[in-house]
Amino acid sequence: MSDPTAAFAEYEREATAALAAAATPEDLEAARIEFLGKKQGRLRDLQKSLGSVPKEDKPAVGKAFNEVKTRVQAALDARQAELESAEGAAAADALDVTLPGRAPHAVGAVHPLTRTIAEFKTILGRLGFAAVEGPEVEDERHNFNALNIPDDHPARDPLENFYLSAASVGKGGGPLLLRSQTSTVQIRVMEQNPPPVRVISIGRVYRPDTIDATHHCQFHQMEGLMVGEGVTMAHLKTVLTLFCRAYLGEGTKVRFRPSFFPFTEPSVEADALWHGAGTGDGGEEGRWLELGGAGMIDPNVLKAVGYDPERVSGFAFGFGMERFCMMRHGISDIRLLTENDVRFLRQFG
Ligand code: PHE
Repeated sequence: MSDPTAAFAEYEREATAALAAAATPEDLEAARIEFLGKKQGRLRDLQKSLGSVPKEDKPAVGKAFNEVKTRVQAALDARQAELESAEGAAAADALDVTLPGRAPHAVGAVHPLTRTIAEFKTILGRLGFAAVEGPEVEDERHNFNALNIPDDHPARDPLENFYLSAASVGKGGGPLLLRSQTSTVQIRVMEQNPPPVRVISIGRVYRPDTIDATHHCQFHQMEGLMVGEGVTMAHLKTVLTLFCRAYLGEGTKVRFRPSFFPFTEPSVEADALWHGAGTGDGGEEGRWLELGGAGMIDPNVLKAVGYDPERVSGFAFGFGMERFCMMRHGISDIRLLTENDVRFLRQFG
């Protein structure tokens, strides 16, 4: 080597320039590898060249080499510290603690009607009723015929139902309609299962009612059905009483008023005497709430589904769900349940 000191100086100049120019940790690492790398690079080359230094010069050159190396290493450390503190300062700038916080993810709420449905399923599930579903588009057999509703019955009036266009023809050849009651599910369940059966079915029904605070063209019903040997009206009253006590509170009483439905005989309207808070009328005595229709299944219905009315008997009930939900949550207008106004829905979060 001609002049190791000149080579050291050149190395040091280039190394310090490269380190100073490194603007990112990645640049700096590249410069480190080039100028201070142990396996290869400029330092290694210099070190190799020391071998050709005359013996008498070796101590001085070796010393000079070590000094250069130490200085370049120190320059690297200094630049590294600079870059790190700049990064820290940038991060500190990015966090402005005086800004309002970011809104958390919007958390949804369970719709009040969905809650009521879930609660009904739980209570009746405890009494051994399995939850089943049926289609909302029905044929006349399930909505009327098998339910003992004759052809000339006013319930079939096109003005009382949502018949689908004439082109939609059901299995039996008749027209299809949006079901007007969940009693359709009784038929479907009994057609497919031998007795005993114990089910509830909660779902939408459709009627062309004028929409106001308590009526809608679409609402939910819960149908209950229990068929087996020796099922009587006492079972019906017991199930409804236990259900009402679980939902409305201990001490709730259930009463039956005579009524008529083509598919039950005898038929009743069931009411519950509720002592709940804020009932408004009824005062201390509580308030009679209409639960819905119920009764013992007409033998004609049992026959229509292939059951033997001499062997099995059963009861059915059908309640409107919205009314329970509105009463439970103090909701005054049924339309609120379908309008999807978040100011209303957020209250159930
Ligand atoms: N389906 C009847 C209605 O919609 C209610 C009901 C169901 C009555 C079951 C008796 C038995 O009004």
